[in-house]
Amino acid sequence: MKYAVIGPGAIGSIIYCILEDKRDAILITKPYQLKILKEKGLKIKEFNKTVRTIRNVNVTSSFPKLKEVDVIFLCVKSTDTKEVAKKIKGNVKKSALIISLQNGVRNTDILSKITGITSIPGVVTFNATLNEIGEALLTMKGNIYLQNNKEFEYILNDIREIFNSSSIKIKLVDDIISLAWSKLVINLQNAITAITGQTIRQSLIDPISRKIIYHTLEEGIKVVEKKGVKLGFSFVLNPKLLLFLLRLPTFFIRFGVRLMRIESDAKSSMLQSILRGKPTEIEFLNGEIDKLARNMGLKAPINRELVQIVKEMERRKEHRFISPLELAATLGIN
Ligand SMILES: NC(=O)c1ccc[n+]([C@@H]2O[C@H](COP(=O)([O-])OP(=O)(O)OC[C@H]3O[C@@H](n4cnc5c(N)ncnc54)[C@H](OP(=O)(O)O)[C@@H]3O)[C@@H](O)[C@H]2O)c1
Repeated sequence: MKYAVIGPGAIGSIIYCILEDKRDAILITKPYQLKILKEKGLKIKEFNKTVRTIRNVNVTSSFPKLKEVDVIFLCVKSTDTKEVAKKIKGNVKKSALIISLQNGVRNTDILSKITGITSIPGVVTFNATLNEIGEALLTMKGNIYLQNNKEFEYILNDIREIFNSSSIKIKLVDDIISLAWSKLVINLQNAITAITGQTIRQSLIDPISRKIIYHTLEEGIKVVEKKGVKLGFSFVLNPKLLLFLLRLPTFFIRFGVRLMRIESDAKSSMLQSILRGKPTEIEFLNGEIDKLARNMGLKAPINRELVQIVKEMERRKEHRFISPLELAATLGIN
């Protein structure tokens, strides 16, 4: 089985390294990234310890190379899905499978519609940061969840075998849609870190940020449940359990953060985008809650306001962060 990873960012770099170790794999990048990766190679660090270095990265910017590939791991931001789908179209085998490791709940529909080939979601629960092109850091442990599916059993078995010996495991579940929505609701907190500039750890330990996260998630849960989605069936991806934990005293939160092995400098993907002056996935996360609420005649004022603030930060292309106290006041949370 031949694999491709599209997007040499935080997630794509780690996935490529795991695949490359066991199978024939290519990494598809933009031309400027290709040059750097060819010169420097690719290095993966887990909790600040280098665990893998690849000198000769099998890297290309040519999408027609996908014609040789059976499975594509899509690791670009949701904001780039449409553009990448257009590049994939016509350059893949009809039998190929796209696995989207992106956050949000719309990517697979967009991919299948544009490319005409099957696309399935993968829910990622680890956290990674890209230090620079060619150097990715695993900053929080976790796994990849995929839908249990008889049709792709042979592919899923191969993927499980590949990842089995790495620190990231593949878990098969019966209801990936519910899990993807649970992840979306949990990711609503990314907007708060993007606006305040706090790391994941800081935002959880800070009582004011924690309160904002609580109200943001609570609003998201109400809207998603109203749609009829069942949220949180696992211990790790359970927004309702998280709501309960967010109300605990800071002492317990500090303990939990240590237990989860969240690195002190682990940043949300949205904060990383703001810091790099790139478009964020706000429309695919908090924006999804706002849209869903409006479609059902409901309101989601906190998530709506967070979308507006992050969009304004994107537009200004500068990182003028605001304090959690100021953000709480803006959102009417006291
Ligand atoms: N980071 C995490 O911890 C984490 C955890 C769970 C899920 N996720 C999700 O995983 C997805 C990827 O996140 P990430 O943090 O890895 O993002 P990232 O670091 O920004 O990586 C995305 C990469 O894709 C590249 N790219 C964009 N368009 C491309 C194209 N046409 N051809 C080739 N490469 C292209 C980007 O290049 P440019 O930078 O030049 O645009 C960038 O290198 C997102 O949906 C995110 O929400 C991330």
